[in-house]
Amino acid sequence: MKVAPSILSANWLNLAKTVNMLEDAGADWLHIDVMDGHFVPDITMGSQMVSNLAQATLLPLDVHLMVDNPEHFIEPLAIAGAKHIYIHCELTNKDIKSLLQYIHSFGCKAGLAINPESPVAATTPFLDHFENILVMSVNPGKSGQKFMPEALNKISFFCDKVEEIVVDGGINNYTSTLAADAGASALVSGSYIFNHSNPATAIQQLKSL
Ligand code: DX5
Ligand code: ZN
Repeated sequence: MKVAPSILSANWLNLAKTVNMLEDAGADWLHIDVMDGHFVPDITMGSQMVSNLAQATLLPLDVHLMVDNPEHFIEPLAIAGAKHIYIHCELTNKDIKSLLQYIHSFGCKAGLAINPESPVAATTPFLDHFENILVMSVNPGKSGQKFMPEALNKISFFCDKVEEIVVDGGINNYTSTLAADAGASALVSGSYIFNHSNPATAIQQLKSL
């Protein structure tokens, strides 16, 4: 199992140390939640943070765009060092296929994120145009929410259809086993890792699935 700690739950004043700890603990990717205050209520980080992180770590930067206008974010994030960029399939007013191709044009892996209430049919027209699916197991917007088991059927649906099935939201020592059994290849985890008394142990436990 690959593990992508979500730094949304970390103390941002200590990020340099945190990133070293995550590397030593065996994290596979670093998950970065970009929020614009429109697609979701909160505002988080952008290309400046990604650039600083890219200089601080060799971990691939796994960037989840929760924004209304991804076309404004993709180029600066790719130049800053993002390796995977996810856009949401709920942006029905956008040309999703062109956006995925735009992500590829910068040499990044393209990802599609799907919210709990969205049907898998919202992603199937684009299956040839993205490598990674980000199955949301909470409504996007903040960490520390409860895993929604409805995500499990969706995880199974994507088995053998995409390169990586990444599950995001409410992952802990129990829900991680459900996601793994359903076919997840990577787990994003924020509050479970960062609220754990020993984050490295939490990472190792998730990796062992
Ligand atoms: C939620 C974000 C997640 C979040 C996960 O909108 O996409 O990446 O940080 O946090 P936990 O693991 O606490 O649910
Ligand atoms: Zn996320």
